[in-house]
Amino acid sequence: MASVSYRGAERLYPGGDRPAVADLNLEVEDGEFMVLVGPSGCGKSTSLRMLAGLEEVTGGRILIGDHDVTDVPPKERDIAMVFQNYALYPHMNVADNMAFALKLAGVGKEERMARVREAAKLLDLEPYLERKPKALSGGQRQRVAMGRAIVRHPQVFCMDEPLSNLDAKLRVSTRTQIAALQQRLGITTLYVTHDQVEAMTMGDRVAVMKDGVLQQVDSPLRLYERPTNVFVAGFIGSPAMNLLSAKPGDGGVVIDNHLLPVDRATASKIDGDVTVGIRPEAWRMVSESEGGLPVRVTVVEELGADAYVYGQCDLDGVPGQVVIRAAAGRVPHKGETVHVTSDPDRVHVFDGGSGRRLST
Ligand SMILES: Nc1ncnc2c1ncn2[C@@H]1O[C@H](COP(=O)(O)OP(=O)(O)OP(=O)(O)O)[C@@H](O)[C@H]1O
Ligand SMILES: [Mg+2]
Repeated sequence: MASVSYRGAERLYPGGDRPAVADLNLEVEDGEFMVLVGPSGCGKSTSLRMLAGLEEVTGGRILIGDHDVTDVPPKERDIAMVFQNYALYPHMNVADNMAFALKLAGVGKEERMARVREAAKLLDLEPYLERKPKALSGGQRQRVAMGRAIVRHPQVFCMDEPLSNLDAKLRVSTRTQIAALQQRLGITTLYVTHDQVEAMTMGDRVAVMKDGVLQQVDSPLRLYERPTNVFVAGFIGSPAMNLLSAKPGDGGVVIDNHLLPVDRATASKIDGDVTVGIRPEAWRMVSESEGGLPVRVTVVEELGADAYVYGQCDLDGVPGQVVIRAAAGRVPHKGETVHVTSDPDRVHVFDGGSGRRLST
């Protein structure tokens, strides 16, 4: 086992005008499950492939433990990869598929079989060892692909969207299995996904990327509660955080004509227009006389225990979209106008220009 360090790592593709991954500094601790998440094209796979040695590093260094692997060939890095397209060998049974890399590496038959049995037990694949891949379900095939990686007893797992071939329901159950398995094996893991829900539910910590640049690395809860900028605020959470433009006001920020109080330390940092962030569950419905922001309800999504209420507000003449989580029994109707406000400790304030977090 080992830690992983990206130190100012960069990947500039030939002919590219800016790096696909720029000045990446990221420390993955020994045994940690780190998830790399971000929109399509932000540089997740490139970062992962740089660690695996499949992509040239054009600047900076990458270390596994104390060992600088920047110029070490992929085979000597002791990393096992699981890809989205984990093509299994169709003519080989499950056991041989799992053992194949070990055979190539010259591991003896007895040792191979012992490791395959061990992995099959972990993955609930024991009854299928003699079957060919075509006689397996999608989820079982995915587990065979995991098994191929596990039998190698690598120092580091690299996984690039390994669940994206599975249907939605299987994806949810498999992500729990992978997270539990990783915890049991304790192997340092870097896991790539574009799905923020997957990232939040699986990762010990989550690294959020945008346009080749790392934005924030934190525990799922910290990311949710203290996003470092407008991008992370909008990317993490579903439905997304409400992001509304606002002006500085007396002891708070002003959305349209409505004053939202913020704490004193945050207020002291505001020196121009801001973006205000409020999670759907952080809105409080109040009466009109209490001066909440008026929202005209356009859609109501009933979920049983609660509901998501979508509506429109007026932001100084510009229509704005708002989503509110409402508890069962307090759900307004389509067409109704509700008034909402929030409490100072639940209001996120970001600089209107740079998008940087101002809230304490
Ligand atoms: N071989 C290549 N040559 C040139 N540019 C590339 C190459 N591979 C990727 N890129 C570019 O580098 C950027 C990052 O690509 P990368 O595959 O790392 O994104 P990603 O975050 O994994 O996206 P996705 O979620 O779609 O898989 C993209 O702009 C992509 O077009
Ligand atoms: Mg990718």
